[in-house]
Amino acid sequence: MPDITLTTLQSLKQSGEKIAMLTCYDATFAQACCQAGVEVLLVGDSLGMVLQGHDSTLPVSLVDMAYHVACVKRGTQGALILADLPFMAYATAEQTLHSAGALMQAGAHMVKLEGAAWLAEPIRLLAERGVPVCAHLGLTPQAVNLLGGYKVQGRQEAQARQMRADAIALEQAGAAMLLLECVPSDLATEITQAVKIPVIGIGAGAGTDGQVLVLHDMLGLSLTGRTAKFVKNFLDGQPNVPAALAAYVRAVKAVAFPTAEHGFSA
Ligand code: KIV
Repeated sequence: MPDITLTTLQSLKQSGEKIAMLTCYDATFAQACCQAGVEVLLVGDSLGMVLQGHDSTLPVSLVDMAYHVACVKRGTQGALILADLPFMAYATAEQTLHSAGALMQAGAHMVKLEGAAWLAEPIRLLAERGVPVCAHLGLTPQAVNLLGGYKVQGRQEAQARQMRADAIALEQAGAAMLLLECVPSDLATEITQAVKIPVIGIGAGAGTDGQVLVLHDMLGLSLTGRTAKFVKNFLDGQPNVPAALAAYVRAVKAVAFPTAEHGFSA
């Protein structure tokens, strides 16, 4: 795979070709994902749940994240590595610069921050210093205690209006990409059309510029035995993991995944 850069992702948005993203936490899966054509590897703080066995992403540390970014980096050929800044690692300007620096030096090409309009300040700070940022809106798992659970966001008109405004404000602040999690499909499509930067969805319907799933979910593995509505098991009907990864990329590119059954209405 040729090196995927922000320019590549921007061109994919402009041409209408969907972007395939998966979470990834180690070198072997990074290599397999690259061979399957996954363009963006997200070293997500979901590793706190799927690797470490916690019931939320809150216990994940910056040291954990830097370790897994470095592992993924060693197996990556061509894909863009996006890394989550963990809970409370960007609460102040000083922490934001320190945390983003640590993950970029470990091998990330872009960092992801969860929040809303208040992210404008850290995004500006990082973008001015050469760090591309993906803003994560909608269901933001680091705020699970404030949200009262892992629930769809933006169903009420006022919430939807706020999310549209936040997306535009964060693009203006310098965000290079947006990620929408568990957002009604129509709202996610509207936001995707309202901004020039690529928008990736998870539980956000087929109208975004690309899709992401948690690796373990799309391979049919679940520690809790529960599977979210927006997840599809791509190992089903495939002979092995590399074939399942390739099937995911094909389905995203062909807009065969997600279907309406994987999305949410307002
Ligand atoms: O941490 C993560 O894996 C994520 C995805 C759920 C998008 O942020």
